Amino acid sequence: MATIGVIGTGSMGGMLIRKFVETGAFPAGDVMASNRSTEKAMAVAATTGIGIAWSNLDLAAASDMIFICVKPLEVKSLLKELKGVLTADKLVVSIAADVTIRDITDLCDARVARVIPSVTSECSRGVSLVAFGDSSTEADRSLVLSALDSISRPVEAEEVNFELLADLTSCAPAFISSMMHEFALSAARREGISPRLAELLVMETLAGTAELLKTVKGFEEVVTRVATAGGITEEGVKVIRKVAPSMYDDLLEVTLAKHSLVKDRIKDQAS
Ligand SMILES: NC(=O)c1ccc[n+]([C@@H]2O[C@H](COP(=O)([O-])OP(=O)(O)OC[C@H]3O[C@@H](n4cnc5c(N)ncnc54)[C@H](OP(=O)(O)O)[C@@H]3O)[C@@H](O)[C@H]2O)c1
Repeated sequence: MATIGVIGTGSMGGMLIRKFVETGAFPAGDVMASNRSTEKAMAVAATTGIGIAWSNLDLAAASDMIFICVKPLEVKSLLKELKGVLTADKLVVSIAADVTIRDITDLCDARVARVIPSVTSECSRGVSLVAFGDSSTEADRSLVLSALDSISRPVEAEEVNFELLADLTSCAPAFISSMMHEFALSAARREGISPRLAELLVMETLAGTAELLKTVKGFEEVVTRVATAGGITEEGVKVIRKVAPSMYDDLLEVTLAKHSLVKDRIKDQAS
């Protein structure tokens, strides 16, 4: 069994550790973590039973598979810190947005996989995007895919499309929640019901719609089941179809522009 190291026990790293251990993807005894502020790693260790490494170097030296869960602009300096330790017999799995497999292989000899997880893995749902570097092996693929399968639906994709696809997977929980919140607030403003009640109604309906979608062929089937021709719901659907395309075009445009900005900043960091 591989020894798993996780560097960065923040929001995502902490969630991945908890879920990998909870689902049995990796036994707690095979996992260790390091974090810049050690207290955070200690807190995750206390609740999951994993081990702690007192430095990133110790962790990388002792691990076969190393998850990099730090912010994108912190990855290059971390890889430099680990210079000489990330050898070809190790597998690096980076979850950092905008840091390419090439950025990583330029700084170490390890085999590399890139994963874009989603906060929805908290409830073992949603998509993890995955791409593998050229030197990764079949064993790497099955290890990474089976671990991700226990906490999400892994979807292999071309790395070049990661930013756009991540809008639909890892960013989407924020987009969907934000849209649904606005829907609830709009109703609360008009009808004098409390925002709390409006939010509850929308949240329950969203959860029900997500369940319903699992039983049908696609979104359109749900739309036609509710929005019968000439009915009231159809009027609302018409508004969404008029307004939403340009909203989503804007959303994708600004998020992709931000990705380009971050990628440029990563490129400008000294190698
Ligand atoms: N949040 C999401 O939904 C999401 C989705 C997909 C991918 N991602 C990716 O996941 C990565 C982490 O995001 P996050 O939201 O989890 O960020 P976060 O909560 O800020 O966690 C980052 C963690 O990394 C630690 N850290 C920073 N530099 C370090 C170093 N040199 N050595 C060891 N630990 C170090 C930080 O420690 P301190 O406690 O000292 O600050 C912090 O605990 C990002 O690259 C992001 O692109 C996030």
